[in-house]
Amino acid sequence: MPVTILVGAQWGDEGKGRVVDWLARESNIVARYAGGDNAGHSVTIEDTLYKLHLIPSGILNDGVVCILGHGMVINPKKLLDELKYLADRGLHLTPDRLLISERAQIITPVHIALDTASEEALAGDSIGTTRRGIGPAYTDKVRRSGIQAHAMRDVEGFADQIHRQVEAANQVLVSIYHRTPLDATAIAAEYVEYARQIQPYITNTVAYLHHALANNQRILCEGAQGTLLDVDLGHYPFVTSSSPSVAGALSGLGFGPTVVDRVVGAAKAFSTRVGSGPMPTELHDEIGNRLRGTGDKPWDEYGTTTGRPRRCGWLDMVALRYAAQVNGFTELVLTKLDVLSGFESLKIATAYQLGDRQIDDLPASLLDMELVEPIYETLPGWSEDIMQVRRWEDLPLNARRYVERISQLLGIPVSMISVGPERDQMVVL
Ligand code: GDP
Ligand code: IMO
Ligand code: MG
Repeated sequence: MPVTILVGAQWGDEGKGRVVDWLARESNIVARYAGGDNAGHSVTIEDTLYKLHLIPSGILNDGVVCILGHGMVINPKKLLDELKYLADRGLHLTPDRLLISERAQIITPVHIALDTASEEALAGDSIGTTRRGIGPAYTDKVRRSGIQAHAMRDVEGFADQIHRQVEAANQVLVSIYHRTPLDATAIAAEYVEYARQIQPYITNTVAYLHHALANNQRILCEGAQGTLLDVDLGHYPFVTSSSPSVAGALSGLGFGPTVVDRVVGAAKAFSTRVGSGPMPTELHDEIGNRLRGTGDKPWDEYGTTTGRPRRCGWLDMVALRYAAQVNGFTELVLTKLDVLSGFESLKIATAYQLGDRQIDDLPASLLDMELVEPIYETLPGWSEDIMQVRRWEDLPLNARRYVERISQLLGIPVSMISVGPERDQMVVL
């Protein structure tokens, strides 16, 4: 069976981009299935750092065709910016390498204005969104007032739809949020121009994928965000508005589970989260700061999309086990193991204490999540720099023990360990 799905196993930023770049070498097609430009996927190739938000990270492999699936919400302006960003780096993407689903939803300034207004109104209770309009765009989708990408083929009709969307949103922006209304005519004209440029990339990606499957092509599905940010599976409302977990790949690209043979979870060797919401193993001390880094290294924990410092803490096996269950991971890729070099000892949360009970399963309630205390297991650290290691047997004994313990607690194999952001900094087991 020819389909691999790569899913973020934590709260996003697990290093999915660099793992996709690696797995794309064995793929003909790489397809993004959910989210929008809230994602920030970094890939480092020979000292060049690529930051991708909409275009799949597989694009950096010659010959791989990339798809933006209909599970996505796409801001045409951001997509054109990204096409230019890649062109400036010598990668000119023509419609034979990049395909956009005709059913993908379109993000416009309306969604960004509503996202911002809603976050500001929530003040201290805000979700901490990326303010890329993601929530409002998915809201429009499910209430059936969104605009699908195929509408861009008829620019006049598209202009009308945008105009109506802005007028409708203005009522909410003005009367509920007391904002100045958006200029519907100017936005419609601006987006018509984007539509003209994007039209050639829009196609029936479902038919394309099924034709590829019939021809035994290998498809890699690139997840964005992470399982704990899934609208159904994460800690609502501190989630994104899409389905970043495995089911999102099926609905967001249009195939059944019978064509999938690998579900790869990507997990960082510790925990990070950006934005609000529960994170039981978060550290507010020197160790947390050390995991985050000061920002002098390109991989330090500051958001790829928003630049916000990420919250950092020890690995949370309760959350990771949940991710392995709900996604049915066949294997785990562990990233950023190198960042743990130099710690005298390392901790892994294997369960939570909730009052007088020990629990192994992730509670849904925000109140319970606030009350839980992680129960830690301590493992010895290692002092060696491991960024140059390429073989399992060359890793320090305690690094191998750390990885083996994670695999044992999860009950699934760790198939790869990434020890640096560079393309080849990978240990394959
Ligand atoms: P994504 O959203 O899951 O693709 O992850 P991001 O790209 O947002 O964040 C991961 C960060 O870690 C990026 O800066 C990567 O270049 C970097 N990175 C990925 N894998 C490794 C690794 O094994 N070691 C180090 N030091 N950095 C890594
Ligand atoms: P990648 O693909 C980390 C978080 C936001 C916020 C919540 C909702 O790079 O892993 P949204 O803008 O989606 O409505 O914000 O989700 N979030 C991410 N955190 N990595 C991401 O993507 C994220 N995309 C959204 O910080 O907490
Ligand atoms: Mg990211």
